[in-house]
Amino acid sequence: MCGITGYVGHKNAGPILIEGLKRLEYRGYDSSGVGVIDLSTGHIIVRKTKGKIRNLEELIQQQNLPVSRIGISHTRWATHGAPNHVNSHPHADSAKKFLVVHNGIIENYEVLREELQHQGSVFVSETDTEVIPHLIASLYQGDFLDAVRQAIVRLQGSFAIGVLCADHPDTLIAARVGSPLIIGVGKEENFIASDVPAILDRTKRIIYLNDGEIARLTCDNVEIMKFSGAAVRPKIHTVKFSVDAVKKQGFAHFMLKEIHEQPEVLERILKSYLKQEEVNFPELNLSPGQLKGFERIGIIACGTAYHAGLVGKYAIEQLAGIPVFVDAASEFRYRDPILDEKTLLIAISQSGETADTLAAGREAQARGAKVIAVCNVVGSSLVRESHGVIYTHAGPEIGVASTKAYVAQVAVMFLLALKLSRNSGRTVPAQRESIIAQLRQAPAAYKKILAAKNQIAQIARKNSHFGCFLFLGRHINYPTALEGALKLKEISYIPAEGYAAGEMKHGPIALIDEYRAVVCVAPQSEIYEKMISNMQEIRARKGKIIAVATQGDAAIKKHSSHVIYIPATHNILTPLLTVLPLQMLAYFIAVQLGCDVDQPRNLAKSVTVE
Ligand code: F6R
Repeated sequence: MCGITGYVGHKNAGPILIEGLKRLEYRGYDSSGVGVIDLSTGHIIVRKTKGKIRNLEELIQQQNLPVSRIGISHTRWATHGAPNHVNSHPHADSAKKFLVVHNGIIENYEVLREELQHQGSVFVSETDTEVIPHLIASLYQGDFLDAVRQAIVRLQGSFAIGVLCADHPDTLIAARVGSPLIIGVGKEENFIASDVPAILDRTKRIIYLNDGEIARLTCDNVEIMKFSGAAVRPKIHTVKFSVDAVKKQGFAHFMLKEIHEQPEVLERILKSYLKQEEVNFPELNLSPGQLKGFERIGIIACGTAYHAGLVGKYAIEQLAGIPVFVDAASEFRYRDPILDEKTLLIAISQSGETADTLAAGREAQARGAKVIAVCNVVGSSLVRESHGVIYTHAGPEIGVASTKAYVAQVAVMFLLALKLSRNSGRTVPAQRESIIAQLRQAPAAYKKILAAKNQIAQIARKNSHFGCFLFLGRHINYPTALEGALKLKEISYIPAEGYAAGEMKHGPIALIDEYRAVVCVAPQSEIYEKMISNMQEIRARKGKIIAVATQGDAAIKKHSSHVIYIPATHNILTPLLTVLPLQMLAYFIAVQLGCDVDQPRNLAKSVTVE
């Protein structure tokens, strides 16, 4: 969602701020803006506009952005008010002394707005954000930091903010509650941003601001304190990945690049967590005794991560015999869940900043459960709030549609199931060894499926005209069907429904005719024959079938218009492989339809508001 960058240093701020915004484009946005303090006049100057960052660049070419040493910039994903230039950030107070960029939602903005209007503030936008600069201005008596601090304690909701004051052209203030914000520590220059990629080519030294903290940045100092004023000694992390990780490196889209990175992601995960056929999660923070003591497991997540959680349920119940429930985090947090200290709660999130997942994790902790994060982002809110963490090691994921992060989450779910299975008596060592041996083959299997790229692209071209897709799978590949449908609808906007194949006759069969395409996930498994029966029912109604099947299954051809093969693997591991053809199919269909694959309309990479 909204992206923030901020700069204070000795260089011209404008180009740095625009460059930073470009690196945050993946978060999803519909307008953008930049504000600086003019070095020669000391005035606040703002340029903002609807649409893509290139529109902002064009505006700056026409209207010039003065040379400055300090500024803030923003990509807005509209919540309160239409995406237009008035509602874009930054927002200022009536006297244009304070300038604010904000990510999050101010829930009490109507009350504050009324109060400030009575005091004479004139509002120009429909946004909740605009109350912030007016509120700061109303509290300002010469001390910039103090005015911001007094203002933020009156805000309800979630926010990450960057604030400028024309009276203090050497100081940038930032604060956060519930929305992500990082500080980049440079040499005689410092930065704020919503995420690391924004500043990765400037510095790798990062401070993750915590909830309830406020930071004062000048070009040569970063000072952090609690909202109460108590000083905080910040921990500076050094980011390991290079700037190349956030570039396309010759691929047409980030999504395609990330699909191709999946073999190395799998290799990294296996190398990190499999030691001589034993699974070891070094940051789990649970002793073997504690791990044995859990009587049930809850998994909470959103979207694609939720689908990885569903795979986890099948794997853990089957291999370890521990009952597992999986909830969408947005449902879990309001359903009065029954939890206790015998429940291990696993929160899966690529970003670690998803508002619902964070809230669900807090709810679970409050009810006595231990929360373990399965997360891709070091230092994210989820990681910091959880008892332990299993990192997914997928590297930065820039494409809005999650691919490599999902595969990494699924791989981690299998490793977790294997770890838990050791004490369960449900598997014998030979079974575990066989699964581990097949897991080790997964990166090579990925390379084989990737090599069928042209065939999958051709299938995509031949089928991109269908106005509706149904994705069917059973058992552990039911989540694969859900994920395949989600990928397709996200990036191609084609209505796509994921369903458990056994449920087809209870409703979705009504959709099937010669105008629908049905993707059937039918690898080798205990329920393969049942899947074939479903395919026959689809054929009988003239539905066009694209099947994903196991290499060597020639028989499936007679039931399908197209077959995409995956290498043979252990039945339980098939979701790790079957998802790849579906990611590629969605990608090539979206390309064929001319869609904006990396930044699909209306979507945000990290959903930081509820
Ligand atoms: C879909 C997608 C989303 C995310 C969901 C959760 O491609 O990316 O459905 O999976 O918004 O995000 P995280 O994993 O960051 O919590």
